[in-house]
Amino acid sequence: MKTIIYYFTGTGNSLAAAKSICTHLGDGELVSIASLATTQGEIHAGADRVGIVCPVYDLGLPSIVAEFVQRLDVSQTAYCFGVLTMGGFGASALHQLDDLVFAHSKRHLDAAFTVRMVGNFVPLYDPATGEKRDKLLSDADKRLSEIAAMIDKGLIVRPDTAFLSAILKRIMYDGFIRKLHDADKNFIADEKCTSCGTCAAVCPVKNIDMVEEKPVWKHHCELCCACIHFCPVAAIQYGPKTKKRGRYKNPSVTIADMKKQRGE
Ligand SMILES: Cc1cc2nc3c(=O)[nH]c(=O)nc-3n(C[C@H](O)[C@H](O)[C@H](O)COP(=O)(O)O)c2cc1C
Ligand code: SF4
Ligand code: SF4
Repeated sequence: MKTIIYYFTGTGNSLAAAKSICTHLGDGELVSIASLATTQGEIHAGADRVGIVCPVYDLGLPSIVAEFVQRLDVSQTAYCFGVLTMGGFGASALHQLDDLVFAHSKRHLDAAFTVRMVGNFVPLYDPATGEKRDKLLSDADKRLSEIAAMIDKGLIVRPDTAFLSAILKRIMYDGFIRKLHDADKNFIADEKCTSCGTCAAVCPVKNIDMVEEKPVWKHHCELCCACIHFCPVAAIQYGPKTKKRGRYKNPSVTIADMKKQRGE
């Protein structure tokens, strides 16, 4: 049975989740959603099983993923699943994914899961460190093994009820999407910048150019936070609070992975 897993990631959690499921299933191929964003038209998966793996953003889907699902035809796919990684709260995003799949392909997801990993939205909070981080990631590993086993058996798993997160999503998500692409106006590279170019190299949507050896953000940002977390000297700030906060990358993610996500 052939499986394709479409993924999007900013700091590697969702890529680690996609890789883990792929390894457990043994027959999977990973395809980057970001690498397809510059193409146009319908996407036919051509696999028996199709998965979509990405983070939760503001209780919903990353904009790039929502747009992708509206082009993805899974009407003839035998089994279709979604796995969303998150910092703590956001089952409403699973319902959004299910609704978009239904709107385009006239079928529901067969299985839908959230996985708690390390929250990476550093403009709002300090990402977990030390034992807390290790525990979150080892619990996520166990959950991903269980999820892969359920997928392998072809179980039907409806999205968790999301009463509170659905209410909050209704309040927050549209505003988040409206301001999303320009949100990069809040990024600056401070005096620590060494002009290494890593931020430009890892941005999944090529939203950063190096101009006179400094990053310049081009206002088609997805707010994935890859640039801020991958900067090797923590020179990128978003608002007044990030200077004092830590940075996070999933331990397994590499710069090569991020370039591959861009189709390089
Ligand atoms: C813009 C943005 C919004 C986020 N919103 C939520 C949220 O509503 N709920 C949540 O639990 N985590 C939220 N997070 C945290 C991510 O979903 C979480 O860290 C995820 O695992 C990151 O995946 P990645 O490493 O594949 O990018 C948000 C992160 C970002 C960057
Ligand atoms: S500019 Fe930074 S936050 Fe925006 S999409 Fe690129 S890496 Fe992500
Ligand atoms: S990754 Fe950091 S140090 Fe390197 S160019 Fe970007 S801001 Fe400067």
